[in-house]
Order: sequence, then C-alpha cells, then structure tokens
Amino acid sequence: MLNPVRLHSIDSDDAAHSVSVARVSLTAFRNYGNHCFDVSPSPIVVTGANGSGKTNLLEAISLLVPGRGLRRAELTDLQSHFHAEFWAVAIQMRTAFGPLMIGTGRNPNEPDDSRRLVHIDGKNIRGQHALADHVAMAWITPAMDRILAEGAGTRRKWFDRLVYSFDPAHAGRIARYEKAMRERLKLLREGMGDAGWLSALEDEMAQTGVAIAAARRHLLRQLRTAIDETEGVFPRADLALKGLAEEALDNTPALLIEDRLRGELGAARSDDRQTGTCAIGAHRSDLIVIHRAKNCPAELCSTGEQKALMIAIMLAYVRAIIHQRQMQPLFLLDDIVAHLDDTRRAALFEEILALGVQAWMTGTDADDFASILPYAQHYQT
Ligand SMILES: Nc1ncnc2c1ncn2[C@@H]1O[C@H](COP(=O)(O)OP(=O)(O)OP(=O)(O)O)[C@@H](O)[C@H]1O
Ligand SMILES: [Mg+2]
Repeated sequence: MLNPVRLHSIDSDDAAHSVSVARVSLTAFRNYGNHCFDVSPSPIVVTGANGSGKTNLLEAISLLVPGRGLRRAELTDLQSHFHAEFWAVAIQMRTAFGPLMIGTGRNPNEPDDSRRLVHIDGKNIRGQHALADHVAMAWITPAMDRILAEGAGTRRKWFDRLVYSFDPAHAGRIARYEKAMRERLKLLREGMGDAGWLSALEDEMAQTGVAIAAARRHLLRQLRTAIDETEGVFPRADLALKGLAEEALDNTPALLIEDRLRGELGAARSDDRQTGTCAIGAHRSDLIVIHRAKNCPAELCSTGEQKALMIAIMLAYVRAIIHQRQMQPLFLLDDIVAHLDDTRRAALFEEILALGVQAWMTGTDADDFASILPYAQHYQT
C-alpha cells in the first residue's frame, strides 16, 4: 500500500494548470494500424508483452512536443511497415482552457521526410516550436541510463532538451547558435572569407551563447531547489554547469562575457580552421552530476545508482516545470518500474500521485504496479 500521509505531504503547485491526454488516435504509426482510445486525467499503467507496442505508444505521445520523440527516431522509422496510409498521431488534450487537438504526421509535401506536419486545433503550424507553448513533457527511458555515464556532449544535449520544455525559446536559441557556428566554420574552411561577415557570425555566437548559458543556469537553479525540497529514498544529486559563460555569469555581467567570447572566437580563427572545429563556446559546456551522499561523480556510480539519480533528477524536473510554467507536464516512464525495489517503487508512485501529473508508465507485468493501480487506469497493449 502507498502511504496516504505522504501522498498529501508533497504539495503540488495548486495554481498549475492541469494538462492531460483525453484521446489518442494512431494511424499507420509503427505497429499500430488504426487505433483509438480514451483516457481520464489520472496516471496510466500500460502493460503488455514484449513487442506489443508499449514504447511505441509513449513515443507517439512524445511527439506532442518539438523534436524527434523519446527514441529520437528518424521520421521514416515511424511509418508502419504494414499500412499504406501516411502515419499520423492525433491527440485530444484536456487543458485548463478547454479541449485542444494536436495532430502530427507524415507530410505529403516533404518527399524526403525531413519534417513532420503539425496541426494545432485544425490549423497547420509552420515548424514545431509552437507545440512547446501548449504541452510540456518529461520522460525517462532505459536508454537514458547511459547519459550520466557518457561524455559531455550527450549530457549537454540531454540537458538542453530539458531546457526546451522549461523555456520554449531555448530550441530557437540553440538552432541560431549552431547555424552561426556552422557558417563560421564554412567560411574558415573556404579561407577566412570576409572578415566583417566572420565577425558578425562570432557576434551571433557570443550573444546567443550567453543567452543559452543563462537559460541553462535558470533550469539548473530550479532543479537544485526542487532536489533540495524533495525528501525520500531517491539519492540527491548535486548539479553544476561547467562552461565559460555558465561559470562567468556567477560574477560577470553578460555584456562583458559576450566581449570575451567575441575576442576568444576571433583569436581562435586560425586554430579552428586547422582543426575544423570550434574550440570554445556554448557547445563545449558540460553538466556535472555528483551523488551527494556518496560525494561521487555520477559516471563512477553503479548502474543502479545512476538509474536512481536519473529518476531523482527527472522528478525534480517535473516539479521545476510545474513551478516555472504553472502547467503540468505529461510524464512518460518507459520500463522503469520493474527495475526498482519495493521501497523505491512505492516512493516513485507516491511522488507521481502527489505531483498530480498524468504519468504514463509501461511494464510487462501488472503486478509491478499493484500499489498504484487503485489510483490509476490500466491500458493493455
Ligand atoms: N515502423 C514499424 N512498422 C511496424 N512495426 C514496427 C515498426 N517499428 C517498430 N515496430 C514493431 O513494433 C513492435 C512493438 O515495439 P515496442 O518497442 O513498442 O514494444 P514494447 O511493447 O515496448 O516491448 P518491450 O516490452 O520489449 O519494451 C515491435 O515488434 C517492433 O518490431
Ligand atoms: Mg518497450
């Protein structure tokens, strides 16, 4: 049994707007042909045999936010091998402002499948960024176990994706920064080109780079607060950002950091030209994660400890989103519960119920969810 006292001891932010999925309709999406079902706002336990479509279902929901979904799949992989129609995911949402219909699918005008079609309330939307205004999302999957163990690039990209749901403008900043960086490298490769144009690109990298660092710091602060507020069996993580602008923002005005970045990028031109990479900037930062109780860097922790740290960080992230955006994110947990002992499983369920979010939890065995099932809906694939 879950502890009812604890369920009420964790206050979710009362002012947060509730957001939940009401109806899911899938067409020619992976192993689904035509499939439609309704759900209530409470958490959903999805069980079924291996290969029955649990992760595919969560993946479909994960396309409600910008990006490539929780598998980071190519769009061509989403198309059912067995159905000729174009793949489509249509989801009716329940929001504080009334129902909202979000549709996404294969775009007949993109023969190379490079972009998906996005409809919000029947209107075709250019780009995907607008999705982030309506839905926030957090997910945790078995593949994320290695994020804490891998290199800076993997961790930074994951952290930037966390910032996207937190601060919808962040995706645009990253795209502008990367475009300027690519153009600068191209100019350098072609023999330095026009010095004025190079300076303009470095200026864009410096300004956007500082904005990126500031957005990352903002999420980091909120995560730290949320981690400190959370009591329970999951280990606390100490988080820090390592990077020129991220660290300098502690005690240096943003404009001076931009000047410094511009200067360093200018001075690095001939080295960068030789290496074909850009040695400094926002794309070099890292997220440092330390297991607080053990004072041990996450990459040196055991697999189980890394998994527990990841769950703790994602629970803190859900709290941080609720606080920042005053809206509840959808929370997708793919195949997580089976790997937790009874105490941790109960703690996770209690936290999910207390947060009041619509959590989608998958597993092969309904018994693993016995203690949350009285408070949840059960969907079998
Ligand atoms: N494009 C596609 N067309 C048809 N079937 C696909 C496509 N992509 C994946 N599948 C199939 O969908 C099935 C379900 O996959 P999914 O990963 O959702 O299973 P699961 O229920 O999460 O299984 P597990 O318990 O092993 O994690 C798999 O058999 C897979 O081969
Ligand atoms: Mg799966």
